[in-house]
Amino acid sequence: MSSAGVVKILFVCTGNICRSPTAEGVFRHLAQDAGLGAHFHIDSAGTDSYHIGEGPDRRAVKIAARHGVSLAGQRARALKPEDFNTFDYLYAMDGGHFFDMQSRAPSGHTAKVEMFLAAAGAEGQDVPDPWYGNEADFENVFDMVHSASQTLLEKLRKAHGI
Ligand code: 4NP
Repeated sequence: MSSAGVVKILFVCTGNICRSPTAEGVFRHLAQDAGLGAHFHIDSAGTDSYHIGEGPDRRAVKIAARHGVSLAGQRARALKPEDFNTFDYLYAMDGGHFFDMQSRAPSGHTAKVEMFLAAAGAEGQDVPDPWYGNEADFENVFDMVHSASQTLLEKLRKAHGI
């Protein structure tokens, strides 16, 4: 861990407006619900720069809100080299992000770079891009992210003695 008692995790997708903001919001919600908010620093970023400064997609916001999760206050940003050293874990939403992140990782970086769903026990699975999809696609993303985040929170608690 990079600072006492705080596990730093970064969720990464393409635009940082649909999947990774949902993961950031869901994981934060679950951690806070469990009384563990202070033990985690949670952020998200995109491999691409098209949407920098934008809030999350309104469809993602709507579905999250329906499940009691707020994405308020989030603004899209691009993945940067320092992220590979300031965070403990970088979670890729799909295989494309994973390979992109591996190729961009500075040598000697300290963060562990993993596929999000693999880290939550579902090896080889992607969180599918909902950008060109409909509300059902966003609902599916939310469900996958929620389920994986529950598993991941437990795993990180155990791994870090939280
Ligand atoms: P995200 O979704 O990576 O889950 O935020 C996307 C958002 C925008 C684009 C692609 C995916 N885009 O090509 O602009």
